[in-house]
Amino acid sequence: MRQCDSIGVLDSGVGGLSVLRQIHHILPQYATLYYADQAHVPYGPRAPREIDQFVENIADYLMAQGARVIVVACHAASSASLWHLRERYPDFPFVGMEPAVKPAVEATKTGVIGVLTTQATAQGTLYKSVLERFAANTTVLTVIAPKLVEIVEQSIQHTPQGQAIIQEYLTPLLDANADQIVMACTHFPFLQTEIQAIIGKKAMIVDPGEAVARQVARILPADMQPCNQHRYVTSGDPVRFRRLVYTLAGIDIVPEGI
Ligand code: DGL
Repeated sequence: MRQCDSIGVLDSGVGGLSVLRQIHHILPQYATLYYADQAHVPYGPRAPREIDQFVENIADYLMAQGARVIVVACHAASSASLWHLRERYPDFPFVGMEPAVKPAVEATKTGVIGVLTTQATAQGTLYKSVLERFAANTTVLTVIAPKLVEIVEQSIQHTPQGQAIIQEYLTPLLDANADQIVMACTHFPFLQTEIQAIIGKKAMIVDPGEAVARQVARILPADMQPCNQHRYVTSGDPVRFRRLVYTLAGIDIVPEGI
């Protein structure tokens, strides 16, 4: 495969595609290289040390394949690894996900926000510091929702079973008067239609994907060469990956295995 300068994007699975679509939108002239670590999805229930090892290996792979910037498009991976990656490669630009508590706190009228996330993110120091910095005067209800990752990876969000699970996670937030629902897992924006149908006008969905893409644009190396190539790599089953990317993003890719 010809090597272009590229924007490397990684996630435990297909969730990072919700960030990648924003990168394609804002920076259409640059090549992208997406890595779905589906052999190890989900990351959420894993220990930070284990996630860190996966992410370091993926970052090395992306760099070897021509990535000039790496977007850790996974909250769990950002929480476990971003700091280590920056320490290990001090001159390489990384962009990570931070739970979007700040914009939710700024927008809330009820003073109550809900954060949908996974265990690794909820228990990480990054989330703790975000809450301390931005949410001192706001009630934050954190919901660990691992089944939402499964729903997206299995593409069953449109089924009655999938919708019942989404409803189950959202009901306590609506009952507590939360008017902002933070997507602190990159898989969750793919449930936007289903979540919107449940919350109606009672709450807003907060998705940091676009802000992250803008940050990528800001830190892009000045000598990065444009190139029209979009590669998709999975450590899991390429056939299943292809089907899932088509369902979620509407693009027919030629996936690469590892
Ligand atoms: N997309 C990942 C995140 O943003 C999903 C976590 C998982 O694999 O459990 O955290």
